[in-house]
Amino acid sequence: MSATTYPNYSPGLEGIVAGITKISKITVETSRLEYRGYNVHDLAEKGSFEETAFLLLRGHLPSQEELDTFKATLEAEREVPPQVIEALRQCAPGTHPMDMLKVGYATLAGYDADYAEDALDHGANIRKAIRIVAKAPRIVTAAYHIANGREPIAPKAGLSTAANFLYMLHGKEEDAFTVKVMDASLTLYAEHTFNASTFACRVTVATLSDIYSGIVSGIGTLKGPLHGGANEEAMRMLLEVDTPEKAEDWIRTALANKSKIMGFGHREYKVGDSRAIYLTQVAKEIGRRKGNTRWGDIADIMEKVMLEEKSIYPNVDFPAAYAYYLLDIPIELYTPIFVMARVSGWSSHAIEQLAHNRLIRPTCIYEGPEGLDYPEIGSR
Ligand SMILES: CC(C)(COP(=O)(O)OP(=O)(O)OC[C@H]1O[C@@H](n2cnc3c(N)ncnc32)[C@H](O)[C@@H]1OP(=O)(O)O)[C@@H](O)C(=O)NCCC(=O)NCCS
Repeated sequence: MSATTYPNYSPGLEGIVAGITKISKITVETSRLEYRGYNVHDLAEKGSFEETAFLLLRGHLPSQEELDTFKATLEAEREVPPQVIEALRQCAPGTHPMDMLKVGYATLAGYDADYAEDALDHGANIRKAIRIVAKAPRIVTAAYHIANGREPIAPKAGLSTAANFLYMLHGKEEDAFTVKVMDASLTLYAEHTFNASTFACRVTVATLSDIYSGIVSGIGTLKGPLHGGANEEAMRMLLEVDTPEKAEDWIRTALANKSKIMGFGHREYKVGDSRAIYLTQVAKEIGRRKGNTRWGDIADIMEKVMLEEKSIYPNVDFPAAYAYYLLDIPIELYTPIFVMARVSGWSSHAIEQLAHNRLIRPTCIYEGPEGLDYPEIGSR
């Protein structure tokens, strides 16, 4: 197969422009990520996940009054109908947490007050999106507790998205630093142009299916280790490496065996992922505060060898893995946390797609047999 025969063919759609967006921009040369024109570092450092979600959904940073109203709406929408919790209980033992989230959102869809509204109804989609974002921590933590044979913990009034998640997970309010780290990580995970799960979400709604179906497509796509699942795999890898002394040998052996190192590499970023740069500093600060620099030390060695041997940088999932570990977050929740944040990006893309919709339907190259005669079943 040659580029001359099929000039538009790019495996994995690499380098193909598949749409226009005003939601976020990656500048590869400077490793800069902007949400609607704002550097994600500023949003993570100075803002809050709620501000980010508002910015993504509404297109501008909120005034104080708009932010207060938005937070109040999120708070009023945090609880889910009991049937959603019941649906999570019906999942088979051992169901993957990401599959439980699909069940949660698929069940929630029919209970949304705007469920019956037309897919193109912008107002209804904004209301749905706010509910989708508001309820994510409740669904994620309920799925986790149910999977582990415990009763879910209800949301608490007056807490932010990050604080409520930690409260519903640990059953107690966390300190301001822990909440800030979680909040910043949600901002960093909230949005990332035409990544695989966002694209899947856009493909789904472009058929004029509903926004909940787009979210379920997004969750299914994010689950894989080449995408969102990498943060969990990265932590399992760090645990296997175990100590800084073993790190260099471990990674050199893995590279010699042609293994993919989880939490490294990126389709877009070739000189570093801006989110990883920011989150590495945060993860190391958590380590210092907790008196545990082991994971940061292992990470330094692995990053050095990856650069020397492959010229590949860590992506956001690498520091996120040990940041969450240091915050006592169970590993199987790392990708669900990604969902909790990314529902804001997916919803914004769904709404943008529907505002200028065109069915997304690429073509393909057929390489199988052609023109065969149909044989009767007895002669096959
Ligand atoms: C993210 C990812 C899928 C991007 O993949 P891609 O754009 O398709 O790039 P490729 O997989 O074709 O990689 C290009 C080259 O870099 C190497 N490479 C890329 N990521 C690597 C990694 N994490 N570990 C080791 N080698 C890697 C590939 O082996 C390939 O080398 P080769 O040309 O010698 O065969 C890939 O880097 C990866 O699998 N990373 C690990 C999973 C991960 O962290 N995912 C989260 C992304 S945010």
